[in-house]
Amino acid sequence: MAIRNIRKLGDEVLTKKCRPVETIDERILTLLDDMTETMYDADGVGLAAPQVGILRRVVVIDVGDGVLELINPEIVNLSGEQRAVEGCLSVPGRYGEVIRPQTVVVRALDRNGDEYEVIGEGLLARALCHEIDHLDGTVFVDKVVKFVEVEQE
Ligand code: NI
Repeated sequence: MAIRNIRKLGDEVLTKKCRPVETIDERILTLLDDMTETMYDADGVGLAAPQVGILRRVVVIDVGDGVLELINPEIVNLSGEQRAVEGCLSVPGRYGEVIRPQTVVVRALDRNGDEYEVIGEGLLARALCHEIDHLDGTVFVDKVVKFVEVEQE
């Protein structure tokens, strides 16, 4: 495993639409492992492949319940609404309120190529939407309704 360089806002790789994964090969498995290590190293709750410069539909998320690996994730249902402060490892130091669904159902492949569904509520719904947005070249700052000051630890 290796920690990869996190691309920052302004890098055009963050504006590109990612291609689906067709074959889950060693490169994809290594990418998943590296993304998880990179996310933990940076104290993030999610990371999408374009953030490490790879234009593939791969996401890792851990909101405190262990890592979720999502290959070719798709939102298949969403409901409700929440408004909360969001940040992004690609946009250090900037935070803002974004309106997201309260609940989403996401279908994805796991590392074995098996399809599964995850039901996300609250923070997990927010993380799923945020990371899937990255796969379509959207960074959260484009959706912020109000930027906020957040005390740094
Ligand atoms: Ni992000």
